[in-house]
Amino acid sequence: MSTTTITPRNNFHRTVFLTGDKSISHRALMFAALKKQTTHISGLSEAADPMSTRSVLAQLGVAIRKKGEIWEVKGVGRKGFTVFNGVLDVGNSGTTIRLMSGILAAQPFVSELTGDASIRKRPMNRIIKPLTQMGASIESVNDGRAPIKIHGSPKIFGIDYLMEISSAQVKSCILLAGLYTKEKTIVREKVKTRDHTERMLNLTTYEKDGLFVTESSADHDFDLPDITVPGDPSSAAFWAVAGSILPDTYVRIENVLLNPTRIGFVEALKQMGADITITQTGECQKEPVGTLEVRSAQLKGIHLSGDIIPSLVDEIPILCIAAAYAEGETEIRGAEELRVKECDRIAAMVQGIKAMGGEAVDFPDGLKITGTGKLKGASIETFHDHRIAMSFAIAALRAEGETLIQNSECVKISYPAFWEILAGTP
Ligand code: S3P
Repeated sequence: MSTTTITPRNNFHRTVFLTGDKSISHRALMFAALKKQTTHISGLSEAADPMSTRSVLAQLGVAIRKKGEIWEVKGVGRKGFTVFNGVLDVGNSGTTIRLMSGILAAQPFVSELTGDASIRKRPMNRIIKPLTQMGASIESVNDGRAPIKIHGSPKIFGIDYLMEISSAQVKSCILLAGLYTKEKTIVREKVKTRDHTERMLNLTTYEKDGLFVTESSADHDFDLPDITVPGDPSSAAFWAVAGSILPDTYVRIENVLLNPTRIGFVEALKQMGADITITQTGECQKEPVGTLEVRSAQLKGIHLSGDIIPSLVDEIPILCIAAAYAEGETEIRGAEELRVKECDRIAAMVQGIKAMGGEAVDFPDGLKITGTGKLKGASIETFHDHRIAMSFAIAALRAEGETLIQNSECVKISYPAFWEILAGTP
């Protein structure tokens, strides 16, 4: 358990080269395991969450090792996993437990999955329901939460599923199970969520009756040439907000994944008056990649709700910090999913902003922040949530006095280099 003390700073000039995207890193490891071939992955995120996927796959018989800077995955094929006679531990990782459940639902053996205290509080009925409809049997002794026991069935069958919530993890879980169904498995979503699974597995998505429809099936084959993981835009968001709220600042962020389903935060910050230039420099892994240049700006409050929410869902905590330093009110609605992330992020942000002397109120599905333009140092309860810790660390750079970030080691979940880059000593 560590506490990190942050003192205010001006002239925050940084050039940051981002490390690999967390969502794509999980998928790179899993999809490589599903192919009967050796796949090389460069730029893989070595944060704790993707490393949980690595260890779960290793326990299921997939050989994964690092040679120099490159990760090598010896894929076993869709049906080549071996039974693990213990409990698979996903740590803090929602993506690991939900996506792996889709694969394990189709295996001819029983698997048990659990994770840390946060994972054991997060809802799993959202995957239990569709996987059960597909013919798997899943037990949860903890009221729809982990630990879960999956009685896989090689005979699972295709379903046509209308998503009740916007969740790329649930969508991906069903599409992965669909790779084992003779019939088509169809997922329909009202709002397009991050589409890395579709891009990497070469699944087609079309629009029908106002819905985004994606199909998979056992017949669907996909090529998986060696993978280069582009940089994580969710990590970029912290530096983009630092660059905006601190005076006399220039921040350049390189290797940013510019997938439109991920960079809603840039749009939101621009609406707030941020000075951000985006330059696409190329493509990586069928995804646009580029540079963000950010300069200080006086931000103003905005209203965020509706279809933009899934494209910035992980960035809401740091956008709340931008809002606290903006002029006027920012209201974020339709973001009830934040209540069931690594912690209740609505409650955590309201508590932390108030502790720093700011004004924030919560609603069941969001929050309202009245920008006061200033915050003061405080001791911040992070609830062991990486994004809460990093958000308040950025807030602390412009606060009056010292801020203590409790349990600051939790940043390792998505961004182990964060503290060094913040300190300017990478
Ligand atoms: C993710 C999807 C999102 C996101 C999470 C990663 C993914 O979760 O919050 O950090 O990699 O598919 P939901 O599917 O719960 O929205």
